[in-house]
Amino acid sequence: MSKSFAVIGDPIDHSLSPNIHSAAFRELDLDSSYIAYRIPKGELAEGIEGLKKIKIDGFNITIPHKVEMMKYLDKIDETCSLIGAVNTVSNKDGVLKGYNTDMDGFLEPFKKKELNIKGAKVLLIGAGGAARAIVAGFAKEKADSITIANRTLEKAVSLSKFAKTIGLDASAVKIEDIKDSAKNYDIIVNATSVGLKNESSVIELDGINEKTIVYDIVYMPMNTDFIKKAKAQKAIIIYGYEMLLGQAVRAFEIWQGIEAPYNAMKKALLGGF
Ligand code: ATR
Repeated sequence: MSKSFAVIGDPIDHSLSPNIHSAAFRELDLDSSYIAYRIPKGELAEGIEGLKKIKIDGFNITIPHKVEMMKYLDKIDETCSLIGAVNTVSNKDGVLKGYNTDMDGFLEPFKKKELNIKGAKVLLIGAGGAARAIVAGFAKEKADSITIANRTLEKAVSLSKFAKTIGLDASAVKIEDIKDSAKNYDIIVNATSVGLKNESSVIELDGINEKTIVYDIVYMPMNTDFIKKAKAQKAIIIYGYEMLLGQAVRAFEIWQGIEAPYNAMKKALLGGF
């Protein structure tokens, strides 16, 4: 039987998800389709009714609905309730189950490259929605500690409290207080939106080395200033597109119950750049 999927959000016209998932369906000859569906803020309830009426099999959720979507779920996966935001929903006969595949998506490149998180000292820059899923990932993989640096200190403090409740040693600082301290960390992640518009990175990466892992969650452009600075120090790089791909792979597997065709999905994603 044919299956249908969607991504909902606003704006949605630049979403790469339809390309990635359609490529996966083609690769495995699945009778499935995937569309982008714009649902403006304030119209989520009606939008979901519409999706249920057409018997959608599953959908991804992006800005601005990831948190509000929680209240329309009938069942909630453990990671999703921990993070308090949902990015993937399955629909079985009208019963909506919510998942958050951002954490697994974030962790996927570490697994693929066999990079260790256990015992690592982590610097996380940013304290927004994406940062929360990342903190959950570092807690799960037992990092030694995390320093959360954010422009707005209160948000870093609140995220570090969350980190502590899930067993991760955490501290919060303002970005300007970590300007030259990159060399003290094993893993450095940019989880701010800085770089999307080709801005300079918010910190310098002098003193890091070829064992430091530098991860930018900004995926467009691929080579942000932050990534360029990491390359100049010969660090191990993880690109934002790898997280995007990781969360899509996980969503595919939840919906289809079979292994996702990683390479076909990667090719479709990179072709869209
Ligand atoms: P997302 O869901 O992608 O995490 P978000 O919740 O809006 O998006 O979070 C954006 C992050 O980028 C925040 O950490 C934000 O810092 P503030 O909490 O101080 O707003 C950060 N950010 C955005 N623009 C920034 C800038 N110009 N300099 C530093 N940090 C910035």
